[in-house]
Amino acid sequence: THPQVIFSGIQPTGVPHLGNYLGALRQWAKLQNEAAPDTTLLYSIVDLHAITIKQDPAQLRQWRKEMLASLLAVGLDPKRSIIFYQSSVPAHSELMWILSCNASMGYLSRMTQWKSKLSLPDNASPLDPGPTSKAALKLGLFSYPVLQASDILIHRATHVPVGDDQSQHLEFAREVANGFNHLFSRSSKTHILPPPETILSPAKRVMSLTQPTKKMSKSDQDVKSRILITDSREEIFKKVKSALTDSIEGVSYDPSTRPGVSNLVEIMYYMDESVADSPKALTQDLRELSMRALKELVADTINVHIRDVRERYQGVMYGGGNGNSLGEIGEEGAGRARESAGRTMGIVREAMGL
Ligand code: ADP
Ligand code: NA
Repeated sequence: THPQVIFSGIQPTGVPHLGNYLGALRQWAKLQNEAAPDTTLLYSIVDLHAITIKQDPAQLRQWRKEMLASLLAVGLDPKRSIIFYQSSVPAHSELMWILSCNASMGYLSRMTQWKSKLSLPDNASPLDPGPTSKAALKLGLFSYPVLQASDILIHRATHVPVGDDQSQHLEFAREVANGFNHLFSRSSKTHILPPPETILSPAKRVMSLTQPTKKMSKSDQDVKSRILITDSREEIFKKVKSALTDSIEGVSYDPSTRPGVSNLVEIMYYMDESVADSPKALTQDLRELSMRALKELVADTINVHIRDVRERYQGVMYGGGNGNSLGEIGEEGAGRARESAGRTMGIVREAMGL
């Protein structure tokens, strides 16, 4: 069997919130720490994806840096994992062009992301998306899945950890890989571009603290709706205290009738899954607590588990002194990613006659 190559990406959107951490980043670190010695891990800050919507340059520069510091803070080790900005490795875009020459417009039309970003109905057509969306639908937003396929295939990744909202894009990436191999592989046994497997993140959906029927998101206007992985103990307590709950006596777990309380219980459970078998089981011990006592317990649990993350973030962002600077770490990762991507481009060019 061949060694595994794990790839995943995250957009530079500033400091991650608890949803990003529990739903994605914590698993990246776990995969790294449990990987076989011959496994390659690549984690990319996908800044070329970010610009499919309008970005302010100064803001983007800051957010890229904050995301790199955050990846290190959650425990990614630049000696073990290749951590890099997507735009530092031009082959991601180069392979995208090559793949787009064979990517089906029909398939892309049926994908949901461009429609949901523009709030269009499921049956919207890219050539006639409606009067207000015509100018808003850019080629980059529409072809986003091709760049995502390229991100994965350029490193010949075998495994991609993602949330279930991304399964559709992974299916597309496999389709693109198979199409390319069919056209250019010398035999059906050799894959120029191996079709990647999905590693589905265990479903963890952290909900907004202030509107617990919506997921916690950075695009929410209300900053009290989310906890950032860099929040101080005081900020965590303040936000959890103001979380929307209900006036039912005691603690129980039922997301449909008690979304606020259930979200707090889930967060507590996700922070340390060894304490119980499920969020529901966890409530056995919490049944008698007042809302106030529950909130204090949840805030304390969050604080205890992300304290190290917060401290490492401060260290890499503002610490200076020992350890490489963020700039050096980014450059180092880019160099290794360029090597990995360059090997694939060599094979691709050779196979295509370029
Ligand atoms: P946001 O929804 O805040 O815009 P992104 O879409 O950039 O976040 O997501 C980055 C990663 O974090 C993805 O893997 C996504 O599945 C995960 N993620 C985002 N929000 C949540 C959430 N509320 N609960 C669990 N995982 C989440
Ligand atoms: Na999302």
